[in-house]
Amino acid sequence: MIMDKRSFIKGLSLLGVGAFTPSFSLDKWLQRYDQVPAGVLAGDEDFWGGIRKGYRLKSEYINLENGYYCFLPEEILEKFIAHVREVNYQGSYYMRTVQSDNKKKAAARLAALTGCSEDELIITRNTTESLDMVIGGLDWKPGDEAVMAEQDYGSMLNMFKQVAQRHGVVNKLVNVPNHPANDEEIVRIYESAITDKTRLLMVCHIVNITGQILPVRKIADMAHRRGVLVMVDGAHAVGHFQFKIPDLNADFYGCSLHKWLSVPLGAGILYVRRDHIGKVWPLLSAGERKSDDISRLNQTGTHPVHTDLTVSDAIDYYFKIGPERKESRLRYLQQYWTSKVRQVPNIMVNTPADPARSCGIANVGLKNMNPGELADRLFKKYNIYTVAIDGAGVHGCRITPNIYTTPAELDQFVAALRELAAG
Ligand SMILES: Cc1ncc(COP(=O)(O)O)c(C=O)c1O
Repeated sequence: MIMDKRSFIKGLSLLGVGAFTPSFSLDKWLQRYDQVPAGVLAGDEDFWGGIRKGYRLKSEYINLENGYYCFLPEEILEKFIAHVREVNYQGSYYMRTVQSDNKKKAAARLAALTGCSEDELIITRNTTESLDMVIGGLDWKPGDEAVMAEQDYGSMLNMFKQVAQRHGVVNKLVNVPNHPANDEEIVRIYESAITDKTRLLMVCHIVNITGQILPVRKIADMAHRRGVLVMVDGAHAVGHFQFKIPDLNADFYGCSLHKWLSVPLGAGILYVRRDHIGKVWPLLSAGERKSDDISRLNQTGTHPVHTDLTVSDAIDYYFKIGPERKESRLRYLQQYWTSKVRQVPNIMVNTPADPARSCGIANVGLKNMNPGELADRLFKKYNIYTVAIDGAGVHGCRITPNIYTTPAELDQFVAALRELAAG
């Protein structure tokens, strides 16, 4: 389908229909669908059209880049603003009286959500802080080795480079294929990099540039058999698809809450298995603490406490929508568009087709155009916002819809891709 500017703009105005409606009651809307199974609701546009009404969306472009930040639906945003007002009203009194208890309550809710014990989880600013604290805080000896992947996130790779410079750690990088044959292939790749000197293995729960979900449990079991600690980068996992951290058998787990849980910017978690808490030097010292007291890793100084307060509201919202419904919808949307372009000449989907190996995120490239140009054309010609990825064996744009995204928007994206692929 060739779309001229006029028909595209007409399409956009139609897409605006169903966007933010202040009088809309989410609770009443959800009641109507109480009994409908998640799998059925995944493709029910009426239901998701209601969810979309709770988001204030820009009409200038279609946002297919929710991976950086899943901005808040109005319901969570209003609660956040109310917390900002209240903390501002109470001032130092708030900070000296209930600040710390409230943060503990928020952490307890996150622990319940992720299946952890409350004394193994802290709230941090983000995944970077969580994981870099572990990477930088272990007692490395010269010649110790660490295993990670080319496809891992830059901030963690940079921190590993720093410990290599500072402590003489040897970093071993593996390459995760975009289309693995099976779990065992991936486990073997990680295992092949382990030696007697390996102390830590980092693995993504979901690779951010492709959306591939990795067999973390199998990798962790293998690494533990070899005596290696396992740290999981779950930046995109919590609030996206369902799992419990202890089921992964990881020693450390970090996640950003401003991504799929829609907590305001600047919140993350760090899980540390109890017996490893004492092995990590804190980023900032909390003073004398018992070696198994996780609060020793949680010195923050004064920080935006209203973000911590909003954690609970974001979890409430997540449960209102329903974790299973959200996961099914995100997977449905990804499969909706990827299945339309996988077989098209010149189009390369860099995400496995197996639904168990991905959820909402996928990556697509064109043989006839580099990723930067593709992102640029999508934005300037078709008003579709994405992000270009060009490295680590991944050449394409990362596409991340969210629960407010409609198949009609994805149809526009697919039409644009087809047109660009045709040259
Ligand atoms: C896989 C992965 N790890 C870590 C991060 C860092 O997250 P943050 O900037 O919230 O610390 C990201 C951010 O996109 C990511 O995709």
